Amino acid sequence: MKSRREFLQKLSAGALAPALVGFNSKSTTKNQINQLLTGDDFWDNVREQFPLTKDRVYMNNGTFGPSPTPVLDALKNSFDDTNTRGEYGHINPLRGELAEFVGIKESEISLTHNTTEGINIMVWGLPLKAGDEVIITYHEHAGNAIPWLNRAKLDGVVLIPFEPALTQSENLDLIKKLVTPRTKVIAVPHVTCTTGLVMPIKEISEFAKSKGIYTAIDGAHGAGTFDLNLKDLGADFYASSYHKWVLGPNGSGFLYVKEELLDQLQAYQVGAYSELSYDLHQKPLQLPGYVSTAHRYDYGSQSLPMIKGVLAATAFHNEIGREKIELRIRELNQYLFEGLNEMKNMLQIISPLEEESRICMVAFKPKNKDYQEAYREISQQGFRIRVVPEGGINAIRISTHIYNSKKEIDSILTAIQKVLG
Ligand SMILES: Cc1ncc(COP(=O)(O)O)c(C=O)c1O
Repeated sequence: MKSRREFLQKLSAGALAPALVGFNSKSTTKNQINQLLTGDDFWDNVREQFPLTKDRVYMNNGTFGPSPTPVLDALKNSFDDTNTRGEYGHINPLRGELAEFVGIKESEISLTHNTTEGINIMVWGLPLKAGDEVIITYHEHAGNAIPWLNRAKLDGVVLIPFEPALTQSENLDLIKKLVTPRTKVIAVPHVTCTTGLVMPIKEISEFAKSKGIYTAIDGAHGAGTFDLNLKDLGADFYASSYHKWVLGPNGSGFLYVKEELLDQLQAYQVGAYSELSYDLHQKPLQLPGYVSTAHRYDYGSQSLPMIKGVLAATAFHNEIGREKIELRIRELNQYLFEGLNEMKNMLQIISPLEEESRICMVAFKPKNKDYQEAYREISQQGFRIRVVPEGGINAIRISTHIYNSKKEIDSILTAIQKVLG
Protein backbone atom coordinates (compact mmCIF):
# COMPACT_ATOMS: atom_id res chain seq x y z
CA MET A 1 0.00 0.00 0.00
CA LYS A 2 1.28 3.45 -0.87
CA SER A 3 2.06 5.88 1.93
CA ARG A 4 0.14 9.12 2.16
CA ARG A 5 3.29 11.07 1.28
CA GLU A 6 3.86 8.97 -1.83
CA PHE A 7 0.22 9.48 -2.78
CA LEU A 8 0.48 13.24 -2.43
CA GLN A 9 3.74 13.25 -4.38
CA LYS A 10 2.04 11.34 -7.16
CA LEU A 11 -0.90 13.70 -7.15
CA SER A 12 1.37 16.58 -8.03
CA ALA A 13 3.83 14.58 -10.13
CA GLY A 14 4.22 15.03 -13.87
CA ALA A 15 2.75 11.64 -14.71
CA LEU A 16 -0.60 12.62 -13.28
CA ALA A 17 -0.50 16.32 -14.03
CA PRO A 18 -2.69 16.20 -17.16
CA ALA A 19 -5.50 14.97 -14.98
CA LEU A 20 -5.20 17.89 -12.60
CA VAL A 21 -4.71 21.05 -14.63
CA GLY A 22 -6.81 23.91 -13.19
CA PHE A 23 -10.01 21.98 -13.45
CA ASN A 24 -13.38 23.70 -13.13
CA SER A 25 -16.44 21.85 -14.44
CA LYS A 26 -18.41 25.06 -14.94
CA SER A 27 -15.88 26.54 -17.35
CA THR A 28 -14.57 23.31 -18.84
CA THR A 29 -15.91 22.06 -22.14
CA LYS A 30 -17.25 18.56 -22.58
CA ASN A 31 -14.13 17.61 -24.57
CA GLN A 32 -11.81 18.90 -21.88
CA ILE A 33 -13.82 17.05 -19.27
CA ASN A 34 -13.54 13.88 -21.33
CA GLN A 35 -9.78 14.34 -21.53
CA LEU A 36 -9.55 14.86 -17.81
CA LEU A 37 -11.45 11.70 -17.18
CA THR A 38 -9.40 9.31 -19.28
CA GLY A 39 -6.70 8.96 -16.63
CA ASP A 40 -7.44 5.52 -15.23
CA ASP A 41 -3.83 5.44 -13.90
CA PHE A 42 -4.70 8.33 -11.67
CA TRP A 43 -7.66 6.47 -10.22
CA ASP A 44 -5.65 3.27 -9.84
CA ASN A 45 -3.34 5.26 -7.64
CA VAL A 46 -6.30 6.58 -5.63
CA ARG A 47 -7.53 2.99 -5.26
CA GLU A 48 -4.27 1.99 -3.65
CA GLN A 49 -5.11 4.32 -0.78
CA PHE A 50 -7.96 2.00 0.22
CA PRO A 51 -7.22 -1.10 2.29
CA LEU A 52 -10.38 -2.66 0.84
CA THR A 53 -9.97 -6.36 0.19
CA LYS A 54 -9.17 -7.37 -3.36
CA ASP A 55 -10.92 -10.71 -2.80
CA ARG A 56 -14.31 -9.19 -3.39
CA VAL A 57 -15.48 -6.17 -5.39
CA TYR A 58 -17.24 -3.66 -3.19
CA MET A 59 -20.08 -1.86 -4.98
CA ASN A 60 -22.37 -0.85 -2.16
CA ASN A 61 -21.11 2.59 -1.27
CA GLY A 62 -24.71 3.76 -1.04
CA THR A 63 -24.91 1.88 2.25
CA PHE A 64 -21.42 2.40 3.60
CA GLY A 65 -18.29 4.07 2.26
CA PRO A 66 -15.06 2.30 3.24
CA SER A 67 -12.38 4.73 4.41
CA PRO A 68 -9.01 5.21 2.77
CA THR A 69 -5.82 4.73 4.79
CA PRO A 70 -5.31 8.43 5.68
CA VAL A 71 -8.69 8.39 7.45
CA LEU A 72 -7.91 5.20 9.33
CA ASP A 73 -4.50 6.58 10.31
CA ALA A 74 -6.03 9.83 11.57
CA LEU A 75 -8.56 7.88 13.63
CA LYS A 76 -5.98 5.56 15.10
CA ASN A 77 -3.46 8.31 15.83
CA SER A 78 -6.07 10.41 17.56
CA PHE A 79 -7.35 7.46 19.62
CA ASP A 80 -3.76 6.67 20.61
CA ASP A 81 -3.06 10.29 21.43
CA THR A 82 -6.18 10.89 23.49
CA ASN A 83 -5.79 7.64 25.40
CA THR A 84 -2.10 7.92 26.15
CA ARG A 85 -2.05 11.57 27.14
CA GLY A 86 -5.60 11.89 28.44
CA GLU A 87 -6.09 14.99 26.31
CA TYR A 88 -9.53 14.11 25.06
CA GLY A 89 -9.81 17.48 23.36
CA HIS A 90 -12.72 19.42 21.96
CA ILE A 91 -14.24 19.29 18.54
CA ASN A 92 -15.44 22.87 18.48
CA PRO A 93 -12.36 24.38 16.84
CA LEU A 94 -12.78 21.86 14.01
CA ARG A 95 -16.37 22.70 13.08
CA GLY A 96 -15.37 25.56 10.78
CA GLU A 97 -13.45 23.32 8.41
CA LEU A 98 -16.33 20.85 8.21
CA ALA A 99 -18.81 23.63 7.52
CA GLU A 100 -16.58 24.99 4.77
CA PHE A 101 -16.52 21.57 3.09
CA VAL A 102 -20.23 21.93 2.28
CA GLY A 103 -20.26 25.70 1.76
CA ILE A 104 -21.96 26.79 4.98
CA LYS A 105 -21.10 28.81 8.08
CA GLU A 106 -19.61 27.30 11.20
CA SER A 107 -22.72 28.41 13.09
CA GLU A 108 -24.92 26.35 10.75
CA ILE A 109 -23.44 22.88 11.28
CA SER A 110 -24.45 20.40 13.95
CA LEU A 111 -22.33 17.26 14.21
CA THR A 112 -24.40 14.10 14.42
CA HIS A 113 -23.76 10.38 14.27
CA ASN A 114 -25.58 9.71 11.01
CA THR A 115 -28.18 11.05 8.58
CA THR A 116 -31.05 9.60 10.58
CA GLU A 117 -30.11 11.56 13.68
CA GLY A 118 -30.13 14.78 11.66
CA ILE A 119 -33.50 13.82 10.17
CA ASN A 120 -34.96 13.26 13.63
CA ILE A 121 -33.76 16.70 14.74
CA MET A 122 -35.52 18.23 11.71
CA VAL A 123 -38.67 16.12 12.06
CA TRP A 124 -39.22 16.94 15.73
CA GLY A 125 -37.88 20.49 15.71
CA LEU A 126 -40.15 21.88 13.00
CA PRO A 127 -43.14 23.85 14.27
CA LEU A 128 -45.96 21.61 12.99
CA LYS A 129 -49.44 20.84 14.23
CA ALA A 130 -52.06 18.16 13.48
CA GLY A 131 -53.30 18.42 9.91
CA ASP A 132 -50.13 20.06 8.54
CA GLU A 133 -48.94 18.28 5.41
CA VAL A 134 -45.47 16.97 4.64
CA ILE A 135 -44.54 15.88 1.13
CA ILE A 136 -42.31 12.79 0.87
CA THR A 137 -41.78 10.11 -1.79
CA TYR A 138 -42.69 6.43 -1.92
CA HIS A 139 -38.95 5.81 -2.27
CA GLU A 140 -37.84 6.86 1.20
CA HIS A 141 -35.16 5.03 3.11
CA ALA A 142 -36.37 3.93 6.55
CA GLY A 143 -34.19 6.72 7.96
CA ASN A 144 -36.49 9.36 6.46
CA ALA A 145 -39.75 7.39 6.44
CA ILE A 146 -39.83 6.21 10.05
CA PRO A 147 -39.10 9.54 11.79
CA TRP A 148 -41.82 11.24 9.70
CA LEU A 149 -44.25 8.35 10.31
CA ASN A 150 -43.53 8.74 14.00
CA ARG A 151 -44.34 12.46 13.97
CA ALA A 152 -47.52 11.65 12.05
CA LYS A 153 -48.43 9.01 14.62
CA LEU A 154 -47.74 11.15 17.67
CA ASP A 155 -48.69 14.62 16.44
CA GLY A 156 -51.16 14.04 13.62
CA VAL A 157 -49.17 15.61 10.79
CA VAL A 158 -50.26 14.22 7.44
CA LEU A 159 -47.74 12.63 5.09
CA ILE A 160 -48.32 13.05 1.37
CA PRO A 161 -46.15 10.54 -0.54
CA PHE A 162 -45.74 10.53 -4.31
CA GLU A 163 -44.21 8.15 -6.83
CA PRO A 164 -41.24 10.02 -8.31
CA ALA A 165 -40.88 10.32 -12.09
CA LEU A 166 -37.57 9.85 -13.89
CA THR A 167 -36.74 13.44 -14.82
CA GLN A 168 -35.99 16.55 -12.81
CA SER A 169 -38.66 18.69 -14.43
CA GLU A 170 -41.40 16.10 -13.92
CA ASN A 171 -40.48 15.73 -10.25
CA LEU A 172 -40.60 19.47 -9.72
CA ASP A 173 -44.03 19.54 -11.36
CA LEU A 174 -45.27 16.59 -9.31
CA ILE A 175 -44.29 18.36 -6.10
CA LYS A 176 -45.87 21.64 -7.18
CA LYS A 177 -49.14 19.84 -7.87
CA LEU A 178 -49.18 18.25 -4.40
CA VAL A 179 -48.90 21.54 -2.56
CA THR A 180 -52.01 22.74 -0.71
CA PRO A 181 -52.50 25.55 1.81
CA ARG A 182 -51.73 22.94 4.49
CA THR A 183 -48.31 21.98 3.07
CA LYS A 184 -45.64 22.94 5.58
CA VAL A 185 -42.64 20.79 4.65
CA ILE A 186 -41.10 19.17 1.59
CA ALA A 187 -38.99 16.35 2.99
CA VAL A 188 -37.66 14.47 -0.06
CA PRO A 189 -34.22 12.89 -0.49
CA HIS A 190 -31.53 14.59 -2.56
CA VAL A 191 -30.77 11.17 -4.08
CA THR A 192 -33.15 8.25 -3.51
CA CYS A 193 -31.64 5.07 -2.08
CA THR A 194 -33.78 2.96 -4.39
CA THR A 195 -32.96 3.97 -7.95
CA GLY A 196 -30.38 6.69 -7.26
CA LEU A 197 -32.73 9.34 -8.64
CA VAL A 198 -31.43 12.90 -8.13
CA MET A 199 -34.13 15.36 -7.09
CA PRO A 200 -33.87 18.99 -8.30
CA ILE A 201 -33.35 20.33 -4.78
CA LYS A 202 -32.33 23.82 -5.87
CA GLU A 203 -35.53 24.33 -7.86
CA ILE A 204 -37.66 22.64 -5.19
CA SER A 205 -36.13 24.93 -2.54
CA GLU A 206 -36.75 28.07 -4.59
CA PHE A 207 -40.35 27.05 -5.14
CA ALA A 208 -40.85 26.09 -1.47
CA LYS A 209 -39.39 29.39 -0.32
CA SER A 210 -41.82 31.31 -2.51
CA LYS A 211 -44.69 29.47 -0.81
CA GLY A 212 -43.39 29.69 2.76
CA ILE A 213 -42.80 25.92 2.92
CA TYR A 214 -39.79 24.41 4.70
CA THR A 215 -37.38 22.13 2.83
CA ALA A 216 -35.96 19.40 5.10
CA ILE A 217 -33.77 17.27 2.86
CA ASP A 218 -32.48 13.74 3.40
CA GLY A 219 -28.99 14.30 2.01
CA ALA A 220 -27.53 10.86 2.80
CA HIS A 221 -26.13 10.63 -0.75
CA GLY A 222 -25.44 14.32 -1.32
CA ALA A 223 -22.19 14.93 0.57
CA GLY A 224 -19.11 13.45 -1.12
CA THR A 225 -20.87 12.77 -4.43
CA PHE A 226 -21.76 16.24 -5.70
CA ASP A 227 -19.30 19.08 -5.32
CA LEU A 228 -21.83 20.20 -2.76
CA ASN A 229 -22.46 23.81 -1.77
CA LEU A 230 -25.46 23.87 0.53
CA LYS A 231 -25.79 27.63 0.50
CA ASP A 232 -26.12 27.50 -3.24
CA LEU A 233 -28.48 24.52 -3.13
CA GLY A 234 -30.82 26.63 -1.02
CA ALA A 235 -32.57 24.01 1.17
CA ASP A 236 -33.46 25.12 4.70
CA PHE A 237 -32.26 21.96 6.43
CA TYR A 238 -30.07 19.15 5.14
CA ALA A 239 -29.03 15.97 6.97
CA SER A 240 -26.15 13.82 5.76
CA SER A 241 -23.56 11.26 6.80
CA TYR A 242 -19.79 11.33 6.57
CA HIS A 243 -19.66 7.53 6.50
CA LYS A 244 -21.05 7.12 3.02
CA TRP A 245 -19.68 9.14 0.10
CA VAL A 246 -17.33 11.34 2.16
CA LEU A 247 -15.58 8.09 3.18
CA GLY A 248 -15.26 9.14 6.80
CA PRO A 249 -15.51 6.97 9.93
CA ASN A 250 -18.59 4.84 10.49
CA GLY A 251 -21.01 6.68 12.78
CA SER A 252 -20.38 10.28 11.74
CA GLY A 253 -22.73 12.78 10.14
CA PHE A 254 -23.91 16.36 10.12
CA LEU A 255 -27.02 18.49 9.99
CA TYR A 256 -27.18 21.85 8.22
CA VAL A 257 -29.59 24.40 9.65
CA LYS A 258 -29.90 27.73 7.83
CA GLU A 259 -28.79 30.41 10.26
CA GLU A 260 -32.00 32.43 10.09
CA LEU A 261 -34.03 29.30 10.90
CA LEU A 262 -32.14 28.27 14.03
CA ASP A 263 -34.84 29.66 16.28
CA GLN A 264 -37.61 28.03 14.24
CA LEU A 265 -36.13 24.54 14.56
CA GLN A 266 -36.74 23.77 18.22
CA ALA A 267 -33.98 21.86 20.01
CA TYR A 268 -35.49 19.05 22.09
CA GLN A 269 -32.47 16.97 23.05
CA VAL A 270 -30.05 19.30 24.78
CA GLY A 271 -27.18 19.26 27.26
CA ALA A 272 -23.73 20.68 27.84
CA TYR A 273 -22.92 23.15 25.01
CA SER A 274 -26.59 23.66 24.04
CA GLU A 275 -26.74 26.58 26.48
CA LEU A 276 -23.79 28.03 28.32
CA SER A 277 -25.31 30.56 30.69
CA TYR A 278 -27.87 28.67 32.78
CA ASP A 279 -27.87 29.15 36.55
CA LEU A 280 -29.60 26.77 38.94
CA HIS A 281 -29.89 29.57 41.54
CA GLN A 282 -31.89 31.74 39.18
CA LYS A 283 -35.52 32.61 39.99
CA PRO A 284 -37.68 31.71 38.21
CA LEU A 285 -35.59 28.67 37.48
CA GLN A 286 -35.58 28.11 33.76
CA LEU A 287 -33.34 27.61 30.78
CA PRO A 288 -32.53 31.09 29.48
CA GLY A 289 -32.22 30.01 25.85
CA TYR A 290 -29.75 28.27 23.57
CA VAL A 291 -26.34 28.98 22.14
CA SER A 292 -26.68 31.06 19.00
CA THR A 293 -25.43 28.28 16.71
CA ALA A 294 -26.49 24.84 15.48
CA HIS A 295 -24.24 23.47 18.17
CA ARG A 296 -27.38 23.59 20.33
CA TYR A 297 -28.54 20.30 18.71
CA ASP A 298 -25.43 18.30 19.62
CA TYR A 299 -24.28 18.11 23.16
CA GLY A 300 -22.16 16.35 25.74
CA SER A 301 -18.88 14.57 25.09
CA GLN A 302 -18.06 14.06 21.44
CA SER A 303 -15.36 11.91 19.87
CA LEU A 304 -12.31 13.90 18.82
CA PRO A 305 -10.78 10.89 16.98
CA MET A 306 -13.98 10.55 14.98
CA ILE A 307 -13.88 14.17 13.91
CA LYS A 308 -10.15 13.91 13.12
CA GLY A 309 -11.10 10.98 10.88
CA VAL A 310 -13.81 13.05 9.19
CA LEU A 311 -11.35 15.88 8.63
CA ALA A 312 -8.86 13.47 7.06
CA ALA A 313 -11.68 12.33 4.75
CA THR A 314 -12.56 15.87 3.68
CA ALA A 315 -8.85 16.61 3.17
CA PHE A 316 -8.65 13.47 0.99
CA HIS A 317 -11.49 14.80 -1.17
CA ASN A 318 -9.94 18.26 -1.38
CA GLU A 319 -6.54 16.86 -2.33
CA ILE A 320 -8.00 14.88 -5.21
CA GLY A 321 -10.38 17.70 -6.14
CA ARG A 322 -14.08 17.66 -5.47
CA GLU A 323 -15.21 18.50 -8.99
CA LYS A 324 -12.95 15.77 -10.23
CA ILE A 325 -14.49 13.31 -7.80
CA GLU A 326 -18.00 14.23 -8.89
CA LEU A 327 -17.07 13.76 -12.52
CA ARG A 328 -15.43 10.40 -11.88
CA ILE A 329 -18.47 9.18 -9.96
CA ARG A 330 -20.65 10.28 -12.87
CA GLU A 331 -18.32 8.68 -15.39
CA LEU A 332 -18.38 5.30 -13.65
CA ASN A 333 -22.14 5.57 -13.23
CA GLN A 334 -22.60 6.21 -16.94
CA TYR A 335 -20.26 3.34 -17.82
CA LEU A 336 -22.26 0.98 -15.64
CA PHE A 337 -25.57 2.30 -16.97
CA GLU A 338 -24.50 1.77 -20.58
CA GLY A 339 -23.24 -1.74 -19.82
CA LEU A 340 -26.52 -2.74 -18.17
CA ASN A 341 -28.45 -1.09 -20.98
CA GLU A 342 -26.92 -3.58 -23.39
CA MET A 343 -28.65 -6.39 -21.51
CA LYS A 344 -32.19 -5.17 -22.07
CA ASN A 345 -33.39 -8.67 -22.91
CA MET A 346 -32.44 -9.88 -19.40
CA LEU A 347 -33.11 -6.90 -17.17
CA GLN A 348 -34.98 -3.65 -16.84
CA ILE A 349 -33.07 -0.61 -15.61
CA ILE A 350 -35.30 1.39 -13.27
CA SER A 351 -32.85 4.27 -12.70
CA PRO A 352 -33.33 7.43 -14.75
CA LEU A 353 -31.98 7.67 -18.28
CA GLU A 354 -31.54 11.44 -17.86
CA GLU A 355 -27.92 11.98 -16.82
CA GLU A 356 -28.57 14.86 -14.45
CA SER A 357 -31.09 12.71 -12.57
CA ARG A 358 -28.44 10.12 -11.85
CA ILE A 359 -25.05 10.22 -10.11
CA CYS A 360 -23.87 7.24 -8.10
CA MET A 361 -26.21 4.26 -8.36
CA VAL A 362 -27.99 2.15 -10.93
CA ALA A 363 -30.84 -0.22 -10.05
CA PHE A 364 -32.35 -2.91 -12.21
CA LYS A 365 -34.92 -5.69 -12.10
CA PRO A 366 -34.08 -9.09 -13.60
CA LYS A 367 -36.65 -10.10 -16.23
CA ASN A 368 -36.58 -13.87 -15.85
CA LYS A 369 -35.38 -14.49 -12.33
CA ASP A 370 -36.46 -13.53 -8.81
CA TYR A 371 -34.44 -10.48 -7.75
CA GLN A 372 -33.35 -12.04 -4.43
CA GLU A 373 -32.12 -15.17 -6.15
CA ALA A 374 -30.28 -13.16 -8.80
CA TYR A 375 -28.77 -10.96 -6.06
CA ARG A 376 -27.49 -14.03 -4.20
CA GLU A 377 -25.98 -15.54 -7.33
CA ILE A 378 -24.26 -12.31 -8.37
CA SER A 379 -22.96 -11.84 -4.82
CA GLN A 380 -21.55 -15.38 -4.82
CA GLN A 381 -19.40 -14.42 -7.77
CA GLY A 382 -17.51 -11.98 -5.58
CA PHE A 383 -19.49 -8.74 -5.42
CA ARG A 384 -20.96 -6.72 -2.57
CA ILE A 385 -24.14 -5.06 -3.83
CA ARG A 386 -27.61 -4.42 -2.35
CA VAL A 387 -31.20 -5.40 -2.91
CA VAL A 388 -33.93 -2.77 -2.98
CA PRO A 389 -37.02 -4.13 -1.24
CA GLU A 390 -38.16 -0.59 -0.32
CA GLY A 391 -41.68 0.23 -1.44
CA GLY A 392 -42.01 -3.18 -3.11
CA ILE A 393 -39.53 -2.07 -5.78
CA ASN A 394 -37.76 -5.45 -5.62
CA ALA A 395 -34.64 -4.61 -7.56
CA ILE A 396 -30.85 -4.89 -7.36
CA ARG A 397 -28.73 -1.78 -6.77
CA ILE A 398 -25.11 -1.20 -7.67
CA SER A 399 -23.36 1.88 -6.30
CA THR A 400 -19.81 2.79 -7.26
CA HIS A 401 -17.31 5.31 -5.90
CA ILE A 402 -13.82 6.54 -6.84
CA TYR A 403 -12.09 3.36 -5.61
CA ASN A 404 -13.98 1.33 -8.22
CA SER A 405 -12.71 0.93 -11.76
CA LYS A 406 -14.14 0.30 -15.21
CA LYS A 407 -12.48 -3.10 -15.06
CA GLU A 408 -14.50 -3.95 -11.96
CA ILE A 409 -17.65 -2.73 -13.69
CA ASP A 410 -16.82 -4.96 -16.66
CA SER A 411 -16.46 -7.87 -14.26
CA ILE A 412 -19.86 -7.35 -12.64
CA LEU A 413 -21.47 -6.95 -16.05
CA THR A 414 -20.02 -10.31 -17.05
CA ALA A 415 -21.31 -11.85 -13.79
CA ILE A 416 -24.79 -10.41 -14.33
CA GLN A 417 -24.85 -11.75 -17.87
CA LYS A 418 -23.87 -15.18 -16.59
CA VAL A 419 -26.55 -15.17 -13.88
CA LEU A 420 -29.38 -13.75 -15.99
CA GLY A 421 -28.43 -15.02 -19.41
C1 LIG B 1 -31.58 7.96 1.32
C2 LIG B 1 -31.08 7.53 2.67
N1 LIG B 1 -31.50 8.22 3.75
C3 LIG B 1 -31.08 7.92 4.98
C4 LIG B 1 -30.22 6.87 5.21
C5 LIG B 1 -29.78 6.56 6.59
O1 LIG B 1 -28.44 6.92 6.75
P1 LIG B 1 -27.70 6.71 8.13
O2 LIG B 1 -27.55 5.25 8.30
O3 LIG B 1 -26.42 7.44 7.97
O4 LIG B 1 -28.56 7.29 9.20
C6 LIG B 1 -29.77 6.11 4.11
C7 LIG B 1 -28.83 4.98 4.31
O5 LIG B 1 -28.52 4.22 3.43
C8 LIG B 1 -30.23 6.44 2.82
O6 LIG B 1 -29.85 5.74 1.75
